[in-house]
Amino acid sequence: MMTPRPVIGGNWKMHHGPADTRRFFQQFTGLWKGRPPGTIVFFPPAVSLSVARECLHGRPDLRLGVQNIHWEERGAFTGEISAAMAREAGAEFALVGHSERRHIFGERDEQAARKVVAALRAGLIPLLCVGETLEERRAGRVDDVILRQLDAVLDSLPPDAGLLLAYEPVWAIGTGENATPGDAAAAHAALRRRLSARWGASRAQDVAILYGGSVKPDNARDLLAAPEVDGLLVGGASLDPTAFAAIAATEFA
Ligand code: PGA
Repeated sequence: MMTPRPVIGGNWKMHHGPADTRRFFQQFTGLWKGRPPGTIVFFPPAVSLSVARECLHGRPDLRLGVQNIHWEERGAFTGEISAAMAREAGAEFALVGHSERRHIFGERDEQAARKVVAALRAGLIPLLCVGETLEERRAGRVDDVILRQLDAVLDSLPPDAGLLLAYEPVWAIGTGENATPGDAAAAHAALRRRLSARWGASRAQDVAILYGGSVKPDNARDLLAAPEVDGLLVGGASLDPTAFAAIAATEFA
């Protein structure tokens, strides 16, 4: 099933515990009256999911995801949570392979692939993040890197798997330096071509590809207007209800 577009995600990272989550949604639900048929999904810290679900009761237009999962269903994995647990706490989506997971916590392609499979098994929609470092961009290796990250996951998926993608260049995350709409369009087109080669053109079109990296209210419009950009994944600016509502209200053609 296709996730309605544009898909606007708010990745809160390690911000907003339960009390701040309650405050955020009190403000945000007052500001945001909904704009069908897009999808808005928040990724709070796992400990805030239950509170978020409670706050969003009666607001099916505002959905929830988890920032990270383990690939096993249960077991002796201190500090980890499973996809099924996240789903029970209110998540419908799961971020997988965010660059902070890859670069700070050493997560590899193979683990991202296992997490995508685990998310699907538990009924969560995986949002796989891919992106190159500045060094890799300077070396002309953007496509090599993002297609390798994508292939690693596609290899272990059935072709009918519901999947979302986010292109998040590592150098643009949290730096205030967003990719140009042209850079984003080029990377998104490469991802779409690969999906198309693997799954066929029509199935490839069903996969929403989001751009992420220093999205703000003042650049959201141009980024969302770029070809092949089906949504935005917002970090820093998603912590503020007013800024995130402005981004979520961006026109999408
Ligand atoms: P940023 O983060 O918007 O703060 O750059 C984006 C992300 O990491 O998803």
